[in-house]
Amino acid sequence: MITRKSKREVQQMQDAADLLVATHKEIAKRVKPGVTTLELDTFVEKFLEEHGATPEQKGYNGYPYAICASLNDEICHGFPTDRPLEEGDILTVDMVVNLDGGLADSAWTYAVGNVDEKGQKLIDVTKEALYRGIAQAKHGNRLGDIGHAIQSYAEAEGFSVVRDFTGHGIGPTIHEEPHVPHYGLPNKGIRLKEGMVITIEPMINEGDWRSKMDDNGWTARTIDKGRSAQFEHQIVITKDDAIILTDQDK
Ligand code: MF3
Ligand code: CO
Repeated sequence: MITRKSKREVQQMQDAADLLVATHKEIAKRVKPGVTTLELDTFVEKFLEEHGATPEQKGYNGYPYAICASLNDEICHGFPTDRPLEEGDILTVDMVVNLDGGLADSAWTYAVGNVDEKGQKLIDVTKEALYRGIAQAKHGNRLGDIGHAIQSYAEAEGFSVVRDFTGHGIGPTIHEEPHVPHYGLPNKGIRLKEGMVITIEPMINEGDWRSKMDDNGWTARTIDKGRSAQFEHQIVITKDDAIILTDQDK
């Protein structure tokens, strides 16, 4: 069932999102060579606790950490580790904040120091792909309009779109209907309606789009060791432009 959220529910998610944005800004300051993703995970858990919130991912279907930290060829659900970050790495940090029952979900890819030209282009194209998807996310449009905007742009730039993971509805749990694919055809799929809250979170690969699962049962990585980037926002559908709850620029 796809639900439309009340004003109060949206406000609770916005409050959680404000804290999530602040957390991402703290992470941005800390991502540099020598830092480990386990240190980032510990930081996030403490920072959220200090602000009266909890990391919703921890314990979700048994996921063991506060953040997903996906490095280079890891597509998503990477486990934080004690390997120090190295100049040239690309790191996606994904997390979900629970503040008084309101959930906020956003992933961001960070460059560690200087990243080579293709890696930087991958990051830039993935972010732009997210915003092109968001531009299609309005009342009366269809899910395929979002996916098509992302796929046509990313593929024209020479990259590929991960199929095995999608965006999703959110609230009161992390993953609600509908699935929001980052590929598709215009004018196909269910119609978006005012009040729906969804995530759009394209994972874009520099090589093959296909993924394989690590032995830990969580981490997905590219089959050809090419790198993968991801940007995710949580948005509210309206009759006009979507409201980006996890906007970092407002
Ligand atoms: N934040 C992820 C998403 O965007 C959810 C990861 S579930 C976890 O869908 F269990 F891996 F944390
Ligand atoms: Co999500």
